[in-house]
Amino acid sequence: MVAGISMAASNPSAPLLRLEEIGKSFGATKVLEAVTLSVAPGEVIGLLGENGAGKSTMMNIVAGALEPSAGRVVFADAPRRFASISEGIEAGIAFVHQELSVVGSLSVAENLFLGRMPRNRLGLVDFAAMRSASKAMLAAVGASDIDPGRLAGSLRTGEQQLVEIARAAARNPRLLILDEPTSSLTPHEVSTFLDYVRKARLAGISIIFITHRLEEAMMICDRLLVLRNGAIVSDRRPAGTTKEQIIADMTGKASLFAYSPRTNPSDKVALRVRNLADRDHVSGISLDIRQGEIFGLFGLVGAGRTELLEIIVGARTMSRGNMELFGRNHAPRTPAQALQAGVALVPEGRKTAGILPQHSVRRNASASSLRKSGGGVMVSPRGEAERTAAELKALAVRMRDDRQPITTLSGGNQQKVVFARALLSGSRLLLLDEPTHGVDIGAKSEIYEIIRRAAENGLTVIVASSELPEIIALCDRVAVLSKGRLADIVERDDMQEAHLLRLAFSEYEKQQ
Ligand SMILES: Nc1ncnc2c1ncn2[C@@H]1O[C@H](COP(=O)(O)OP(=O)(O)O)[C@@H](O)[C@H]1O
Ligand SMILES: [Mg+2]
Repeated sequence: MVAGISMAASNPSAPLLRLEEIGKSFGATKVLEAVTLSVAPGEVIGLLGENGAGKSTMMNIVAGALEPSAGRVVFADAPRRFASISEGIEAGIAFVHQELSVVGSLSVAENLFLGRMPRNRLGLVDFAAMRSASKAMLAAVGASDIDPGRLAGSLRTGEQQLVEIARAAARNPRLLILDEPTSSLTPHEVSTFLDYVRKARLAGISIIFITHRLEEAMMICDRLLVLRNGAIVSDRRPAGTTKEQIIADMTGKASLFAYSPRTNPSDKVALRVRNLADRDHVSGISLDIRQGEIFGLFGLVGAGRTELLEIIVGARTMSRGNMELFGRNHAPRTPAQALQAGVALVPEGRKTAGILPQHSVRRNASASSLRKSGGGVMVSPRGEAERTAAELKALAVRMRDDRQPITTLSGGNQQKVVFARALLSGSRLLLLDEPTHGVDIGAKSEIYEIIRRAAENGLTVIVASSELPEIIALCDRVAVLSKGRLADIVERDDMQEAHLLRLAFSEYEKQQ
């Protein structure tokens, strides 16, 4: 490695590794496309991406195990196409592969010295020297617990992984590539291994670290690169980067909790509420909710969110104040009246209070629109069925067919059917009470998209939620209720969790 060190000294600021427009195809399958990347000496790069993104292929090209189909690799200022792994090793690249390659029938020490066992003057293998050197090699990567005399095959997978890392590290590489090194390590092994990475970095070794563990990568890496479908889609520094952003980069889907502003904001007031009260839960509520807005209602349990929604939808008696819906007096005495006026409520998800449990998916989705057609609007049964089917499809409700009982669907899908019903009812104001309570993360993200799409289509949406990330992800403005009173209406720019929580507690503090 002497030649390597003198090369680095000649140009210390130059990147150690450069990939220029690297492409790789296996037959007709394009696996990498125009990958360009530089790695500085001593830099730790986290290479992230979903399975099949091309991470291992890219690293095999760097290490010389695969020839690129296009582009070139520049290592230590010298353009090269490594014809073999041994040339890569010669140049100072060590690669710990995803697949383990320890020889189970040999001792740990023999594995560490595979092919280069130290010999004494008589030409015999110097086992004592090998044992003590092995100890040092293992200790260097934080694996001093492993006995060099043990049969490698008797080690846990994580320990075998550490033996391979120790072997690679002992070559004093200039670039160390680790393909998912921590996947089978115990938390203790991970932390000592990460100590090794920090030391190696200080010693000027560049490291490319492939991992699925984002927290780890964010903790240890200088840069995080995300590979998706064979292309680098982002290059970020951990400071100021969130896990959600990285996941969005990896999956290509907008982050679940990323707010997207409305593209068609309207000044028109959809619902005007003045000095509203019921007998015991809420009082003095005044709000102007704009058309096409996603308006949040936040508060602690018992703050009066659900009660306020119930008044708006006619399920609870308004004892004081008044409301206007698109300029017309709004004082429904039943939910059916509210529905006629264009207001639909999707009740809390967890309780699936909105479903008609003895009925089919189709019947559940079309319940409100049937009621409406009974009220005078003529709809042909066939047109109705088609509209229902289209809406269920648009909401990606997962089911065998729409005649199966709604209770046979998962909670998230039941909730989507209740959404379909509300959307099919032709309402202009949609009230959502805890819309994602108890549904899984996949259904949650789909429901967020449904809500955003509804607002983009001009529907006005009120979301009552006790989950701050949900409020912040969805809402254009939020009213914070505290003990049945309006603590404040918060605009987008002021929507920080701490601020909203403080408001939610405000009425409780006044009492003390
Ligand atoms: N030798 C090969 N022949 C054909 N296809 C391959 C070969 N190696 C990898 N691939 C394909 O290339 C894609 C990327 O694989 P890989 O680099 O292993 O991804 P990752 O390490 O990011 O999970 C996958 O679709 C995989 O099936
Ligand atoms: Mg891989």
